[in-house]
Amino acid sequence: MKITVFGTGYVGLVTGTCLADVGHDVVCMDVDADKISRLEQGEIPIFEPGLSTMVERNVSSGRLRFTTDAEAAVAHGVLQFIAVGTPPDEDGSADLKYVLAVASTIGEYMQDYKVVIDKSTVPVGTADRVTAALQAKLDERGASLSFDVCSNPEFLKEGAAIEDFTRGARIVVGTDSDKVVELMRECYGPYNRNHDKLMFMDVRAAELTKYAANAMLATKISFMNEISNLAERLGADVEAVRRGIGSDPRIGYQFIYPGCGYGGSCFPKDVQALARTASQVGYEAELLNSVEAVNYRQKTTLFRKLSAAFNGELKGKTIAVWGLAFKPNTDDMREAPSRTLMEAIWEAGGRVQAYDPEAMKECRRIYGDRDDLVLVADQSQAVRGADALVIVTEWKEFRTLDFNWLKDQLSLPVLIDGRNLYEPDAVHEAGLMYYAIGRGESLKLNNA
Ligand code: UDX
Repeated sequence: MKITVFGTGYVGLVTGTCLADVGHDVVCMDVDADKISRLEQGEIPIFEPGLSTMVERNVSSGRLRFTTDAEAAVAHGVLQFIAVGTPPDEDGSADLKYVLAVASTIGEYMQDYKVVIDKSTVPVGTADRVTAALQAKLDERGASLSFDVCSNPEFLKEGAAIEDFTRGARIVVGTDSDKVVELMRECYGPYNRNHDKLMFMDVRAAELTKYAANAMLATKISFMNEISNLAERLGADVEAVRRGIGSDPRIGYQFIYPGCGYGGSCFPKDVQALARTASQVGYEAELLNSVEAVNYRQKTTLFRKLSAAFNGELKGKTIAVWGLAFKPNTDDMREAPSRTLMEAIWEAGGRVQAYDPEAMKECRRIYGDRDDLVLVADQSQAVRGADALVIVTEWKEFRTLDFNWLKDQLSLPVLIDGRNLYEPDAVHEAGLMYYAIGRGESLKLNNA
């Protein structure tokens, strides 16, 4: 099947590559010539396990091609995926200018029937706007051509995007056209063998499904973070509470890990955008606003614990930070809790000595060269000569830690753990103060 994907960012590149990998003939188009030429040379702009070899394999087989030629891209596929960015506006709603620009481009060049597929996360009602933008171009040309617009949201987790694409729980398609149903069945057929994962629904339901899924997951996390704050004040271990509630299959163990707040490109943006959509239709989404507010506060928890451990005296202190990415297996630092922490440390006059297995380059790109940020080559160098250690991201390699060794490295025996990686008793035994989330010394901190 001939497929065109607009946008070679995270979603577009994963979508195009995975579809090529099962035999489709895919052209990925981007307006960024530099990005396209780097992709042609096999340079992948993002860190995603398995993606690089998959791109290479499909480029060399000729099933995956990259171009900046919009006309050729439109001519290529009967399916035209829109997977361009939807950055948040100042007011939190998704900015559709790139999505609508692609719709116009398709309208400008198409010569035969096309299915336009909204893959980007777009507000409910966007398919109608894409239809209007495309139709306006056709009218301008005086062309009478038929097309369908459908919604096919992605549910990809960074770090597991290929797995999620190839073995995801569901493939949601919003359409009212039988032809689209048939074509989308053909497109996803290779990924839909064992049981039928394709779910067809109306366009608006598909658009809302994406937001509802992310908002529900963000709600679980904020809920659990709220419980952890409560646990600290009540002297209860939140990890026991987590296991206690997770055992109920109606609740489940997933996405109830308390931590230092959710980050990334999806949850913060999507919760805000859905709340914004709600207010646009005259509905105050109180729960969504609270999910966002709880997360905003939770991202400050590491600094508050750190500051309390030093009695507010962070000036001139060197803080070791393990983990910069918003979660493991990615180099993405968008909305990462590490940023809230580091910026607060700098504000208080402290210095950061940080290590992350993947996100150091990204950190340098964001913050540039500054005296109060030292990026080091490994985790032990980060704690050398530091006053305290804060763990922000739960990379696997941080899971085993020699607490006695750590105590010898730090000037103050303070370990702050934003991911509850260790057993408090073991940390205490080494003589370290252990501030985790809803457990350890944190239980005393708020009662002091
Ligand atoms: C998420 C959704 O999972 C995915 O389905 C959607 O398509 C895009 O958004 P992603 O942002 O890549 O994916 O990361 P995810 O693994 O879901 O984690 C999001 C954030 O929540 C991270 O900051 C993570 O640390 C945090 N989190 C997750 C918790 O704090 N606790 C949990 O129990 C789970």
